[in-house]
Amino acid sequence: MRVPKGIIRVVDLFEVIRRRRSVRAFAPEAVEAEKVAQVLAAANAAPSAGNLQGYEIFRVTREKERAALARAARDQFFVAQAPVVLVFCANQARSAAKYRERGARLYAIQDATIACAFAMLAATALGLGTVWVGAFDDAAVQRVLGCPDLLPVAILPVGYPAEEADPMLTTRSGSQVMAVHPSPGLWPSTFTASGTRSPFKPVRTICR
Ligand SMILES: Cc1cc2nc3c(=O)[nH]c(=O)nc-3n(C[C@H](O)[C@H](O)[C@H](O)COP(=O)(O)O)c2cc1C
Repeated sequence: MRVPKGIIRVVDLFEVIRRRRSVRAFAPEAVEAEKVAQVLAAANAAPSAGNLQGYEIFRVTREKERAALARAARDQFFVAQAPVVLVFCANQARSAAKYRERGARLYAIQDATIACAFAMLAATALGLGTVWVGAFDDAAVQRVLGCPDLLPVAILPVGYPAEEADPMLTTRSGSQVMAVHPSPGLWPSTFTASGTRSPFKPVRTICR
């Protein structure tokens, strides 16, 4: 694969995934425009249903709007501290035009979500900190952005970390992965998290 010099830093994806942790304190220094562009390019590279990109990304840099977003996010003031705040909004109408109710209810939100996840990983690869902020008042965010027709999905403050994230502070329990080859009766005592019986064999995967 040819990699254009100076634009893309090649880092190990698994190292980036392992290193990413939520950052909730940001240094005041600006984020270089080129890095913001790389983060947005990564978001743009994410898959989307029907390749419709059923989302819009707002790049908010003015202090006034960052502060308003922090207030909309239930006074999570670190949002305003980050020099760049990206807001990922689902464009449900765009997805619904092709996929109707499923597009509006599911695909547009998934499109926005995966775009945000790509942006987070790109930011980490560039030495930037982020945190996914999902606790906010939808209407207040829509007012700040002037987009009553879009559904805000995630607020992503982006900046240089002013704190060292400790991966050990947010260790994971293993994910419960169900092997999909149904053998009813073989595992009679298998229950899903909701307590219902499952014909699938659970495979415990510990990823640390
Ligand atoms: C859907 C979603 C909503 C979240 N909302 C918030 C939030 O409003 N405020 C916040 O500080 N962190 C929020 N987080 C970040 C989680 O708290 C964090 O990812 C989790 O504790 C794991 O820590 P890590 O990101 O450092 O691995 C959210 C994460 C997700 C995926």
